[in-house]
Amino acid sequence: MDGASPLQILEFYAAAGIDLAIGDTAVNRFAPEPSLLPEQAAAPRADAQDRAAAPKAAAPRPATPPPPDDAAGEARRLAASAPDLATLETLLAAFEGCALKATASRLVFADGNPAGRVMIIGEAPGREEDETGRPFVGRAGRLLDRMLAAIGLDRSGVYIANVVPWRPPGNRTPTPQEIAICLPFIRRQIALAAPELLVTMGAPASQNLLGQKDGILRLRGRWFDCEIEGRKIPALATLHPAYLLRQPAQKALAWRDMRALKARLDPR
Ligand code: URA
Repeated sequence: MDGASPLQILEFYAAAGIDLAIGDTAVNRFAPEPSLLPEQAAAPRADAQDRAAAPKAAAPRPATPPPPDDAAGEARRLAASAPDLATLETLLAAFEGCALKATASRLVFADGNPAGRVMIIGEAPGREEDETGRPFVGRAGRLLDRMLAAIGLDRSGVYIANVVPWRPPGNRTPTPQEIAICLPFIRRQIALAAPELLVTMGAPASQNLLGQKDGILRLRGRWFDCEIEGRKIPALATLHPAYLLRQPAQKALAWRDMRALKARLDPR
């Protein structure tokens, strides 16, 4: 980047999908551990024995999330302890186990009506959702609203959430580890909302909530039982509106799925 102007550097970052700054100062992840004494840090090589003898870290690094297994266990414990959705949201907002929280602006918990007959579950918040704290408010959300309107529904009749409630940087797909850590919270959210029907949008929601491995084009249009806390909730897998924006020809399939949802809600 030598010789590049600040604007060119920013454009380079934007093209690479980096559209937010996490901190004011750069972090040198190659810097020696703070626990090492200066002379140890300066030593060109330390053999394993020397490293074992080095003093223990005085304090853990700030804001380092716990290891994934601990985090998933803590998520399960916290989620199970929530007696209602408001408590679940408070516990989730205070949860430090998912590293996405550090880069997101805020928690995106839910939108719509928790007493609605249908609960819709997407993947993860995007930029607009991260700014507003509400799921599905960007372009994909506007398409979702139109899909719902086509079968006579709106946000007063459905409850909307995501598998992962913090925006992944640059809108990347959440990793399996991030999903595994957040899964106990969305499962508890479903249990507490107790919808009559679920709609999972896209592969991450469909595969992780319905225990399926197939791709979304094989899963879509099919009903599964989503087993949550001893209850089986009928769940329809469908295409994600963000995918439909990229592949408008597939809207016909999503339209078929919306009709199947309508038929299940209002059988004649
Ligand atoms: N995509 C999702 O999966 N969820 C949102 O909230 C927005 C876009």
